[in-house]
Amino acid sequence: MTGAPAIVVLTGAGISAESGLGTFRDTDGLWARFDPMRLATPEGFAADPAAVLDFYNARRANARNSGPNAAHFALARLETCKPGELLIVTQNVDDLHERAGSRAVIHMHGELARALCAACGARWEAPPVMRPEDPCPACGRPATRPDVVWFGEIPYRMEEIAAALAGCRSFVAIGTSGQVWPAAGFVEEARAAGARCLELNLERSEVSDRFHEVRLGRATDLVPAWVAEVLA
Ligand code: APR
Repeated sequence: MTGAPAIVVLTGAGISAESGLGTFRDTDGLWARFDPMRLATPEGFAADPAAVLDFYNARRANARNSGPNAAHFALARLETCKPGELLIVTQNVDDLHERAGSRAVIHMHGELARALCAACGARWEAPPVMRPEDPCPACGRPATRPDVVWFGEIPYRMEEIAAALAGCRSFVAIGTSGQVWPAAGFVEEARAAGARCLELNLERSEVSDRFHEVRLGRATDLVPAWVAEVLA
């Protein structure tokens, strides 16, 4: 039974911003251009599945056409140098952590690259383009959706995340505005467990005050510098 990872890193859209993927709440963010209630809720999907699938088809293509940046690669290097000591919990649905080489990654909001059948619960690798009439490969019903967690739905693997937060010595939040729960509350859980909490972000977040240290700047500058400190 391996112990809890010493370091838990929470990432948000800000770590993928310099890879060309949009954030959500920056001035030009996705939620400034698209209505999250129409495109990222079960009700929105029920009302207009084609619009929702098109939105995620575009994001899936965008993610495929982008690549990991220095921040993703630095975290992968940290995992390689300290096997078993790092867990990445990401709110992101892109696969840039994996493409940078990270293996211990929990996608608490699901993954663009995965599809889910709303009828039978089957999961499979999402095709580049998903359409409402696509039959589920398991049950055949036209109930396929992206395997992402929408507003009002329960994030994935929360028990594993709680256990990791309860046992970590260091909690680092990177590129997240701290506006969406339960991720925004992870810093409290880590503090309660006695972990040292560090925030690496372009600007102060909603929960900056709960961190022992806040460093402001771009992830591609802050994350490699922090990893170098840890490995020194
Ligand atoms: N480097 C570091 N941080 C950055 C950068 C950058 N280059 N660019 C932007 N940021 C910061 C912003 O300052 C902001 O605080 O990243 C944060 C992005 O915040 P959001 O857009 O709110 O993204 P996130 O926190 O990941 O959103 C959480 O909300 O809509 C849901 O499910 C969606 O997972 C998402 C969740």
